[in-house]
Amino acid sequence: MPIKVVYENEVEPPVLDELIASNKIRKFLRSDGWAIVGIDPIRGYGGIYTGAERRKPGHGTAIPPASNRDKKVPFHKPHITDDEVDEVLDAIRSGWLTMGPKTIKFEEKFRDYVGASNAVSMNSCTACLHLALKAVDLKEGDDVIVPAMTFTATAEVVTYFKSRPVLADIDEETLNIDPAEIEKKMTPKTKAVIPVHFAGQPCDMDEINDIAGSHNSYVIEDAAHAFPALYKYKTIGSYGDITCFSFYATKTLSTGEGGMATTDNDEFAEKMRILRLHGISKDAWKRYSAEGSWYYEVADAGYKYNMTDIQASLGLAQLEKSDWMWKRREEIALQYNEAFKACEELVTPHVKPDRDSAWHLYILKLNLDMLCINRSRFIEELKGRGVGASVHFIPLYRHPYYSKTFGYVPKDFPKSEHTYERILSLPIYPAMTYDDVNIVIESVTDVVGKFRR
Ligand SMILES: Cc1ncc(COP(=O)(O)O)c(C=O)c1O
Repeated sequence: MPIKVVYENEVEPPVLDELIASNKIRKFLRSDGWAIVGIDPIRGYGGIYTGAERRKPGHGTAIPPASNRDKKVPFHKPHITDDEVDEVLDAIRSGWLTMGPKTIKFEEKFRDYVGASNAVSMNSCTACLHLALKAVDLKEGDDVIVPAMTFTATAEVVTYFKSRPVLADIDEETLNIDPAEIEKKMTPKTKAVIPVHFAGQPCDMDEINDIAGSHNSYVIEDAAHAFPALYKYKTIGSYGDITCFSFYATKTLSTGEGGMATTDNDEFAEKMRILRLHGISKDAWKRYSAEGSWYYEVADAGYKYNMTDIQASLGLAQLEKSDWMWKRREEIALQYNEAFKACEELVTPHVKPDRDSAWHLYILKLNLDMLCINRSRFIEELKGRGVGASVHFIPLYRHPYYSKTFGYVPKDFPKSEHTYERILSLPIYPAMTYDDVNIVIESVTDVVGKFRR
């Protein structure tokens, strides 16, 4: 839903108060005590309003408080406003706390947004990946191909079945799984491939679907980072057999904890719907509602993976503004790209021309040959300048569990290994002000300037 932007010098103060009171424009309270009235996703923040005190807005630029220079820019801050608070209160006041009407509404709206036929909500993306593998009937002894560089959730779900996660190396440019590496790892035991849309950039889905199809394998997309992302002008959500999204606290749409599995396959959807709530047959959640019945049947040994209406209300409020939250992240990414492009010591993210990243993460690569510090020290230096940074991800073969259980060693994944040593993730979230972005840019360029060879 577009948000009306009102700059403070365009209206008289009493009119501004009236507009806020009547909910015609929105007020976003910031943790530093400032408030922003309206948000223009393209030009940035609108007028700034502090309640008792007012200042003239700088068109398109948030005016920072005087103390801003000492300000810290954390790696992540969720964007929670009165919209989320109101929706959650509505759920609590309704008396229906667990899965119910808001969860169903969230599923319907999410399904329509991504353009899939079905959306099945759960309490995490990990739960979605687990039930997606159940839906395709993964069995003990089967193999599932996953990228070598991902979060453990992508591979751990495979081990739930006593199946083997087979690691495939990445494409160094995009950080996504390399289709050529998938092809190399395919065997008659390969039941499925789980490509991860790394940092929000869609994988080469046409190539991956073709390879999997020619080996009778399923494709389960790990889209934990990829809401909303586009591949060949279509939203990620139904390219593979099942797509799994995460609504964890730091994700691009958050319900605190939560996930959604989307699919065009009605049978898979029905299987996941039943399994997410104890294997109870259809509409189990209606048991305690006025139109429900006490009678139910257990069709399978299921799980307690359902979403609650409290979580779904956060999701409903966030979904309404997901377009401009994405725009704002993209704007920050472009600002970083522009600022760092002249810096030979840095490599900015490469997004292929036929796709749009969700920009869940902004991953910078360091040209370590041109610096006299390593990546860890670079992150420490940023921390010293008040900027939070992180690393996504420590490759799976480097973790004791995967190396001991499956015998994986770094030398078998040269591209992941080379990439891992030099990546770091910078803050990128809609709650960042223009000033926050400038602080990050100044800090990164300052560290490079100080430690270049
Ligand atoms: C690539 C990837 N897959 C899956 C997950 C698991 O998501 P959740 O925490 O919702 O289970 C994450 C979480 O960070 C992730 O980064």
